Amino acid sequence: MSTQERKLAILFLDTDKHVSPFEPLLVTDLFPNANLFLYSNVEPEDVVRIVQDAMFPRGPKGVKYTKMFIGGYDVEKVEKIVEIIKKTMFPPFEFTVIVDPRGANTTAAAAVAKTLELSLKHNLGDFRNKNVTILAGTGPVGVVAATIYALEGANVIITSRSQEKALKTAQKINEEVGTDRVKGVRATTREEVGEAIREANVILATGAAGVRLLELETLRKYGEKCNILADVNAVPPTGIEGLDPSDEDKEVLPGVHGVGALRIGALKNRILADLFKLAAETPKGILDYKAAYEIAKQTIKPR
Ligand SMILES: NC(=O)c1ccc[n+]([C@@H]2O[C@H](COP(=O)([O-])OP(=O)(O)OC[C@H]3O[C@@H](n4cnc5c(N)ncnc54)[C@H](OP(=O)(O)O)[C@@H]3O)[C@@H](O)[C@H]2O)c1
Repeated sequence: MSTQERKLAILFLDTDKHVSPFEPLLVTDLFPNANLFLYSNVEPEDVVRIVQDAMFPRGPKGVKYTKMFIGGYDVEKVEKIVEIIKKTMFPPFEFTVIVDPRGANTTAAAAVAKTLELSLKHNLGDFRNKNVTILAGTGPVGVVAATIYALEGANVIITSRSQEKALKTAQKINEEVGTDRVKGVRATTREEVGEAIREANVILATGAAGVRLLELETLRKYGEKCNILADVNAVPPTGIEGLDPSDEDKEVLPGVHGVGALRIGALKNRILADLFKLAAETPKGILDYKAAYEIAKQTIKPR
């Protein structure tokens, strides 16, 4: 059978009660002829059977036209599922898997790339040995962003309302990256937030929707070293005062340039579409936050 006659099939495994329509709808326009299979409420113990039943029916050549997307709100469950998938597949019955729980990999990749773009545009260089503070960095988006910044050579502080959660999350990220570049601190009062941003060259806010994390007054008082701001929360009040969701390279304070949540969201959608296109062309492999960030970096215009 020629490659033209092979049909793309994409299995969506979601840990939630209802499969999110977001990714299937995006794929509907990207690959109108693809067959989509939706699995909700997926538990780790379901995965071996689903993966094995996806590995064999199309044979060693046909399996390359089968793809899988893993999503859902339970990031830890998704991590377990991915480990099981890796252990279950073996050559030549392997296929490409995209991983993006809660949209965190693509959103974080977009946020980090947008801050890199701003940094390069303003001749501030890349992130090697820069200081980055991620406000409310303990959620899925913050954790992946911290991981990418640390892999890019930055020193990262993640803040939380809980010291214990901050420390635990930082430790997990350091284990993933293989460094001790990430530190966790408690920051709830303006003074604590101020201390957390005192050395920051870049500040990214990754708090829950509708939570204001940084006031302009705090930024003015403590953020002397900061040149780049970004926020992924599009729901008012946004994460950083003075930075609106549609802002792109807004000079929030003199010499401090920011990018808002909708701009990051637009790049996130582009990354997600490109991940599916890459998956369609790639016979096997796991496309996680690293693949998302590689795609994101390619969108940065050379100067
Ligand atoms: N544009 C897009 O496509 C897109 C996609 C995904 C997410 N997002 C946005 O990205 C942001 C982060 O997403 P996420 O899923 O990582 O967020 P999340 O887990 O809901 O929240 C992130 C962190 O915010 C902190 N937080 C929660 N409620 C708070 C409160 N009342 N006051 C202060 N801090 C609070 C928590 O940290 P502590 O408990 O440690 O303090 C939590 O770990 C959200 O605003 C979300 O809407 C955008």
